[in-house]
Amino acid sequence: MFKDSPILLKATQPDLELCEKIRWFRQQPGCNWADRQDALGTLPELKISRHGVKLMQGPESISFHPNMALIRAINILRGAADRFLTATQLSSGDILIDATLGFGSDALIAALAVGEGGRVLGLEKSPILAALIKDGLQHITQGRSKANTEHKKKAWEALAEAASRIAVYWADHSEFLRSMGSKSVDVVYFDPMFRSTLRQSDSIQPLHKWSEHSPLARETVLEACRTARKRVVLKERKNSGEFERLGFKILSGGRYSSIDYGVILV
Ligand SMILES: C[S@@+](CC[C@H](N)C(=O)[O-])C[C@H]1O[C@@H](n2cnc3c(N)ncnc32)[C@H](O)[C@@H]1O
Repeated sequence: MFKDSPILLKATQPDLELCEKIRWFRQQPGCNWADRQDALGTLPELKISRHGVKLMQGPESISFHPNMALIRAINILRGAADRFLTATQLSSGDILIDATLGFGSDALIAALAVGEGGRVLGLEKSPILAALIKDGLQHITQGRSKANTEHKKKAWEALAEAASRIAVYWADHSEFLRSMGSKSVDVVYFDPMFRSTLRQSDSIQPLHKWSEHSPLARETVLEACRTARKRVVLKERKNSGEFERLGFKILSGGRYSSIDYGVILV
């Protein structure tokens, strides 16, 4: 796992704007930047160019892209249901803690649902992921020109606006929740890396190398229950023992899906 590994910061033909971006990444908390490649040339690299920011390790690379959120936003704007929103029951003006930010797709959908008066606090334990997603959310409008249909354009606009309501923190969710006041947010949401390898082929798979895999602690769920005014939600694979171990009631729905949502009403 490369979560805390040193990373080389590289820029292609840096102009003033890219130099500013390099400086910005260097200032992000927790990131471990290497000064030069190691003897074997095996260090991961963060490549910054006019085309975007890529985190690379050998032939594999990841970058921020609101793809999944975009498809979901198109459907939501058309009036379709979204299982995450059904589970979280977010409404206008709510505050949600996304305790496992990852690529930020769920956080974007939450920010869309809570509207102008609401907020999303996104927590990510991997420093490089937190920095990558924070940068991606700040520059989400840059990809908008690629939207080639009216539906996509509308959804992209809505997500760009929603992104401004997400605050990203490099943080361990247990520590962060302990620091929060009782009943200070509406909903706390967990989508931890699954205990099985079931998701090897899905959109989360590229996160594996860079992310935190430790199981969700019971004490953390208790802290979430103390912090939330309305509910605590867990996403897990179907038939996962995690729901029972952590005290969540599984919601019905998603008969053909490989995942379920569990809820604790507080
Ligand atoms: C399955 S991904 C979440 C995907 C996310 N829901 C999305 O829509 O993209 C889980 C993420 O939670 C992070 N994580 C795991 N344990 C954590 C902790 N204790 N504190 C903060 N983040 C954590 C992992 O590093 C990983 O990036």
